[in-house]
Amino acid sequence: MLVAPSILSADFGNLARDVKAICDGGCDFVHVDVMDGHFVPNLTIGPVVVESVAKSTIKPLDIHLMVENNTFFVDLFAPFKPEFISFHIEAEKHPHRLIQKIRSLGIRPALALNPHTLPESIEYLLEDVDMVLLMSVNPGFGGQSFIPSVLEKAKKLKSLIEIKNPRCLIEVDGGVSDRNIELLKEAGVDIVVAGSFVYKYPSGIARAISALK
Ligand code: DX5
Ligand code: ZN
Repeated sequence: MLVAPSILSADFGNLARDVKAICDGGCDFVHVDVMDGHFVPNLTIGPVVVESVAKSTIKPLDIHLMVENNTFFVDLFAPFKPEFISFHIEAEKHPHRLIQKIRSLGIRPALALNPHTLPESIEYLLEDVDMVLLMSVNPGFGGQSFIPSVLEKAKKLKSLIEIKNPRCLIEVDGGVSDRNIELLKEAGVDIVVAGSFVYKYPSGIARAISALK
């Protein structure tokens, strides 16, 4: 299992230290949650902070946009050369065009789906993306409870992916812990995002990441 800790659960007063801790602890990606206060009822970080994170990390960035004006935010974050940018299908009128734009910037495009959104709704976009992010909580906050229906949804998505684009990865985001990681693996998930589990694990960040792996 690939692990992408979410820095939303980091101490923002010690962000460089907390980014280094997940990199040293063996994470695969650094997950960056960008919220605009419109698509979700929370505001997080912009380009000034992400630039600092990009400078202090040795691991690739996985930027998760939870915003209404996706194109504007893609242009803001593209200079920091993230591995992935995911955007929410619920917030985008022209997802196919935006996917092409992200790829033309040398970034791997990904689609994010809220808990209620059907995997079939992105069937005709699957061949164009490198990853699908399935939300297993309502986007907006860390530390929420895992919504178990994502397991069935991941299995459905996996069968569509096998037909349309077998190289497309499945990422699950929200409420991930050592209590659901085996079920996520069985459901075909490749990458998990974990915020509070990683940053609040009693015996430390490195042990939390290895527990998930
Ligand atoms: C929620 C974010 C998640 C969140 C995960 O909107 O997309 O990445 O930070 O945090 P936990 O693992 O605490 O649910
Ligand atoms: Zn996220």
